Amino acid sequence: MSRKKLLITGGAGFIGGNFVQYMVDKYSDYDVVNLDLLTYAGELKKHSDIENRDNYRFVQADIADRETISSLFEQEQFDYVVHFAAESHVDRSITDPAVFVRTNVMGTQVLLDASRKDGISKFVHVSTDEVYGELDFDPSVFFTEETPLQPNSPYSASKASSDLLVRAYYETFGLPMNITRCSNNYGPYHFPEKLIPLTISKVMNEQKVPVYGDGKNIRDWLHVWDHCAAIDLVLHQGVNGEVYNVGGHNERTNLEVVKTIIHTLGKSEDLIEFVADRLGHDKRYAIDPTKLENLGWKPTYTFETGIAQTIQWYIDNTEWWELILSGEYRN
Ligand SMILES: NC(=O)c1ccc[n+]([C@@H]2O[C@H](COP(=O)([O-])OP(=O)(O)OC[C@H]3O[C@@H](n4cnc5c(N)ncnc54)[C@H](O)[C@@H]3O)[C@@H](O)[C@H]2O)c1
Repeated sequence: MSRKKLLITGGAGFIGGNFVQYMVDKYSDYDVVNLDLLTYAGELKKHSDIENRDNYRFVQADIADRETISSLFEQEQFDYVVHFAAESHVDRSITDPAVFVRTNVMGTQVLLDASRKDGISKFVHVSTDEVYGELDFDPSVFFTEETPLQPNSPYSASKASSDLLVRAYYETFGLPMNITRCSNNYGPYHFPEKLIPLTISKVMNEQKVPVYGDGKNIRDWLHVWDHCAAIDLVLHQGVNGEVYNVGGHNERTNLEVVKTIIHTLGKSEDLIEFVADRLGHDKRYAIDPTKLENLGWKPTYTFETGIAQTIQWYIDNTEWWELILSGEYRN
């Protein structure tokens, strides 16, 4: 069998970084190119154990840089593209929406043009359940692939826009593609500005933990390794043109998540500090993953097993997140 060439964008970030490791380990007959701009959210220390592997290579580049991207595609002739690179933090999209449009919308379009021109076999666009907007608290209602797109934050609006472009390149040009829409991820190498790693680091340092509003907003948590397995399946078996929702029915309020972390680390709930709610804060996200389950995917982590493993990972890898918190990782 001939070797395959796989481009992973955003592989210096959280989910893309876990996916790079997953693919490099699992497919020795794939040449994996990790393309990342190394914004504040990207760092390569996480790949120190694979950086010298024959089937792995890192390229620092901006997905919105048309010239660089098209010459890379011409040179490499990729078989597959899995696209994670994005601005991903909702709070940052409220203070600076423009970079979200540039990277998430324009960057995706540059990749789509290059992929179309080079005739790749599959483009997997990694998106988010946030494009569907919010659900109310009725526990019997879930996001399905047919739920209308109603994004509420500049982040989710930029992701929804990129989803529509990917769909249009399939409909108009026949680009072989899938879109995955995943719920909130957690696990190793999660940047400590997001709820779970932020809370773990604050609690370990005995600092106050900020909780938005009354803490009752609900998220559906998925371990990042279950997400990696889902994308692997979609890449190889997804029906062209289809959207797949990814989620494991692990709904928790933000307050429940914070309390679980505090209790596991044996600290006091006095650390909780309620702060002014996020603007446009979506009430609830919850995924119906039936379509992906019918393709053959099943999550392996419950929230209880996943959060315990994740907390232990942050205890064992204090140096990794302390370098980020101090800003030293940028050097
Ligand atoms: N984190 C979640 O819970 C979650 C859930 C569902 C979907 N997603 C989606 O998954 C993808 C990855 O999310 P994440 O949490 O790993 O994000 P992240 O912020 O941890 O990583 C993003 C990566 O993209 C890189 N990047 C940013 N702009 C770039 C550019 N212009 N060119 C090249 N690289 C650039 C960054 O350097 C970083 O390494 C995103 O598309 C996000 O929308 C995330």
